[in-house]
Amino acid sequence: MVLNMPRSKKDETEETEQTEEYVEQAEAEISDKKEEGKELTLEDLPGVGPKGAQKLREAGYTDLMAIAAASAGEISVAADLGELTAEKVISAARQALDMGFKPASEVLEHRKEIGKMTTGSKALDGLFKGGIETQTITEAYGAFSSGKSQLGFQLAVNVQLPKEKGGLNGTCLFIDTEATFRPERIVQIAEAMGLDAKKVLGNIYVARAYNSDHQMVLVEKAKDVIKEKGIKLIIVDSLTNHFRADYTGRGELASRQQKLNRHIHALQRLADVHNVAVYVTNQVMARPDMMFGDPTAAIGGHIVGHGTGVRIYLRKSKGEKRIARLIDSPYLPEGEAVFTVTEKGIGD
Ligand SMILES: Nc1ncnc2c1ncn2[C@@H]1O[C@H](COP(=O)(O)OP(=O)(O)O)[C@@H](O)[C@H]1O
Ligand SMILES: [Mg+2]
Repeated sequence: MVLNMPRSKKDETEETEQTEEYVEQAEAEISDKKEEGKELTLEDLPGVGPKGAQKLREAGYTDLMAIAAASAGEISVAADLGELTAEKVISAARQALDMGFKPASEVLEHRKEIGKMTTGSKALDGLFKGGIETQTITEAYGAFSSGKSQLGFQLAVNVQLPKEKGGLNGTCLFIDTEATFRPERIVQIAEAMGLDAKKVLGNIYVARAYNSDHQMVLVEKAKDVIKEKGIKLIIVDSLTNHFRADYTGRGELASRQQKLNRHIHALQRLADVHNVAVYVTNQVMARPDMMFGDPTAAIGGHIVGHGTGVRIYLRKSKGEKRIARLIDSPYLPEGEAVFTVTEKGIGD
């Protein structure tokens, strides 16, 4: 069979007539399920069915968000559907996800719920205009040993503080992809702050991700534990290393980026829907061979795309000093802050 074979006008007319009624019915079912608060699956989409849903999953479209963000052409090829049906599938997914317009007053109400937590350094908090925010992805990128993980450990402790002490009175979900999570280091930081280290450790839920697919599944599962455990901070340390390892060939670059984008989208959605902060790290390889261009550019491109999230670039300075530079923030002024990494954790 030839994929992507152009369809004749006659085919399209028949397809329209066949699907129109079915689509109406499916859309009514989607509304009903939504009102009942039921979780919607790919099978609920009009014209998809169990077989189509399986094909979509195999092609990496594992949830409604992935479909809502896809183009009709992509869905048509992935699930072997006509373009017209694909368009309807996408619009049904968007409907199911409430991706329509909403009044700015509602947006403002949602934004009023944004919480901020301290990094442990006044200078760094100042760079962020108050601290790390909920509903936002904060990305730290930099070379090995620049302090990315240490900042994560400190945040995992700080999130547990009461609001008046710069915390969010919540717990932390820590996705460890490099096997660099150290509970002993958490104990050290917690004790330096005069906290009950055992209690602090009990409020950090750690999951080790073994590959990029596993990492994506962990994020998908996260929504189940966020409410139950009172999670207010999700850490992915590092966001990118598995993707880099799992998609090595030149020809795989596009699919790597696509998967990574989907992963980031899932994280952004968790941040938004559950009002949690998300902190991700991204290691930059030293490129001594690089003579031109920016040797500090994050591999995998701008992971957290323009317009979403906050990115900081970390670099080593003298001894325990580290320098953080704010990069391309849509609403924060550019600038740098000096902080320290010591036995006690992050400080000034
Ligand atoms: N217990 C500690 N006491 C003092 N400094 C520490 C301690 N643990 C880590 N560090 C500092 O943090 C650095 C490692 O930073 P880290 O955040 O783990 O790097 P990366 O950016 O690769 O994640 C070490 O080189 C050291 O300077
Ligand atoms: Mg690290």
